[in-house]
Formats: sequence, C-alpha cells, structure tokens
Amino acid sequence: MRQFGTVTSVKTANKIKTMNKIDSKVRANEIIGTKQIFENPMNESFSIKLNGQTVEAFPGETVFQVADRTEVKIPSLCHDDRLAPAGACRVCLVEVAGQRRLQPGCAWVVTPDMEITTESDRIEKHRTILYNLYMADHELDDAGLPIETGNGNELRELCKTVAPMGLEPVSAPRAARPGDDNPYIQFNPELCILCARCTRYCDEVEAVNAITLSHRGAETTIETAGQRSLIDTTCELCGGCIDTCPTGALIEKKAPVNLVQLGGTEAVRSTCNFCGVGCQLDLHVQNDKVVKITSPEPGETLNDGNLCVKGRFAYDFVHHPDRITEPLIRGTDGLLHPATWQEAISATAEGLMKVRDQHGADALGFVSSSRCTGEENYLMQKLSRAAFRTNNIHQCAAT
Ligand code: SF4
Ligand code: SF4
Ligand code: FES
Repeated sequence: MRQFGTVTSVKTANKIKTMNKIDSKVRANEIIGTKQIFENPMNESFSIKLNGQTVEAFPGETVFQVADRTEVKIPSLCHDDRLAPAGACRVCLVEVAGQRRLQPGCAWVVTPDMEITTESDRIEKHRTILYNLYMADHELDDAGLPIETGNGNELRELCKTVAPMGLEPVSAPRAARPGDDNPYIQFNPELCILCARCTRYCDEVEAVNAITLSHRGAETTIETAGQRSLIDTTCELCGGCIDTCPTGALIEKKAPVNLVQLGGTEAVRSTCNFCGVGCQLDLHVQNDKVVKITSPEPGETLNDGNLCVKGRFAYDFVHHPDRITEPLIRGTDGLLHPATWQEAISATAEGLMKVRDQHGADALGFVSSSRCTGEENYLMQKLSRAAFRTNNIHQCAAT
C-alpha cells in the first residue's frame, strides 16, 4: 500500500493515518471498479446530502467515513478501518441518487452534491434477505440465530434485527485444516462468511500472506499453501486474523470458552512488557486469573488494534509456579534465600561499591534492557555516570 510518510508525532501520526486511510479507499475504489472522477483537487470540503441532511465531506472520503463523523450508523461485516475496503459482505449497501443498484457504503467515495440514503424500505428488504441467506449457510443455535463464540459474532447481532424467513440450509463443503497443530489459532469453516478480513489483514497489515481465499463457489474457504499447519507457513502467529474475524470462525485455541456467556471477566488495560514499544493490552481477568488478552480497538492506542504473538498469547507466565515473585539473595551457603527489596538493593549497592573501591569505577559495567521504559533507562545511565562515575553503560537494543 502506498504510504504518505513515517510517524514523527502523535498529531502527525493521526494526520498520516487519515491520509493513508483515504488513500486506501481511493485505491480500493479503483480496484473494485467503482470509478469516479474527483473534480476537487484542492482538498476543499464540499456538501453532500446524507439522509436528507446537508453534511460536509472531503475529497476521497467514503460514505462510511462521512456517516461515521455525522454519527449515522451503517451496519458492516467485512469492513475494518485498518484495511482497504473489499465490498465483500454487501451488508452496508446504501442508496445513491442516480445509481440503479444499491452501492457499498464502505467503498463508495463521495463527490460534491451526492445524495445518499442509508435507511429505506428497499435497504431494509435487502438486509432481511441478505441476513437470512447468511443464516442459511451458518451454524445456528436453538433460537435459529448464528451461534455465539468466544470472540462474539457480529453476524448474530445483525440477524437479530430482521425477521427469519426459514430458508433451507445450504450445503457448503468448505475445507477446514484438521491437521493444523499450531498452538494458538483454530479455524471453523462453518462460521466463515468469506469476508476476507483475515486474509486482507494478513496481507495489508502483517505483510505475511500466510492465508488466502481458495477454491470456488460453495467450496470457497480460507487456506494456507497446501493446507499446511500455520506453524509450517510464513505465519507469525500474531493472532490479528482472530482479532478482525467478525464471526468467531477464527478463534483462540487457548481461550475457546465463551467468555461472553461465562460472564464475570474484567478487562484491565495494561502495557505489554515483552519489549519497549509500549503496546497497550486488555487483560481479561476471571477469578484473579488472566484468561485471555486482546488489543484495544484500532485507533485507540499506539498499536492500533495490533499485537505480536508474545503480547497476545504469551500470558501463561503470569501464573506460572516457577515465577520469581520476591527478591532472592545468594547466601554464604551458595543458595538463594528470600529477602526484602530493601535488603536486596542494599546488597547490590554494597557489592558494586566493593568492586569500585578495589578495582576502580571502570571495572564496573551497567547494561539496561529494552523492556524497561525510557525513564528507567535514563535512570540507569544516571546511576552509572553520576553515582558510580563510569561511562560503561549500554542498552541491549543498541547492539
Ligand atoms: S496469525 Fe497473523 S500472520 Fe498468521 S495467518 Fe493470522 S494474520 Fe497472518
Ligand atoms: S475466517 Fe473470519 S475473517 Fe476470515 S473470511 Fe472467514 S469470517 Fe472473514
Ligand atoms: S462492509 Fe461494505 S461490503 Fe462489507
């Protein structure tokens, strides 16, 4: 994807993000053939009519972006702000004056004086038929609704808004990956609506392309090359495909229980401590135990809804019995003994001062960690230079 620049500040980052999003929408419109002519090269705003109201729009914006800003809600399934629109699910279709067919609000770029309608009898009829078609090709619960999953199910919520038509179930022999023994990600093709959010995320955000849409018609499914286990592909096990999947067709193996139904989980915002980037996490805690980790919503924090394999899945250490939870000092017997923090810090200071007094300050060396904050790294070099008078200070990220 063409990018407008690199991030230099939060303000610049937001501006670049907006420009990149607009660019991706324009590019997507070129790709899916909804070609339109932009007659406003000066980036000046213009007016359009949205549900009869005059609203401001900017060149390159999609119906979705204008609607979002004006708090008009348009349903969607295949849309993710981080991805170029695919126009795949047809849930977001709106009426555009002068267009014979309903058009996808997620991908349709507005132009001056355009008239858009997002709610009408025609759109309602379209949604009712569409959701019922989805239900005919989806695993349903006893109430006849798409099943709930550990990651929720956006299709289920949409289907609740229309009357059931009782369509005959569709037989769609889509392949799963039964031999996929990767430790984290599970794929259930019966819940897949082929929105391609997972494959686009893997391509556009991760630049990995471990998964793709394959086969045709009712056999279309999400596959790896040769149906290999994800762990035998280029997959980085980032779990971003799980995060973006709207139906729970992709789900975590580690937390397969339905946390929504179990209830009692509390989301605690925290900072990942695997490296110094500072990605934000939501720890889902149940009975004082972390049972799952997700990223805050895209656009909320610096990691923009993304996490790496460690941040998303490596939380078992929190409750591991081997974890060291208190300071230990090696005694004259050669064994480690529990101590207070004050005793541990005093023992460390005494040891360092002993080396300095016997061998000089340059006999000491300090190495800090990229897992520490900038402030902690700053204090480490102060300790080295100001307290112990040596410039032997290093940080692991510098090598
Ligand atoms: S875990 Fe990440 S790298 Fe692997 S398939 Fe999913 S999005 Fe792609
Ligand atoms: S697995 Fe999920 S994200 Fe991927 S195509 Fe199917 S429904 Fe969409
Ligand atoms: S959200 Fe627009 S087509 Fe899916």
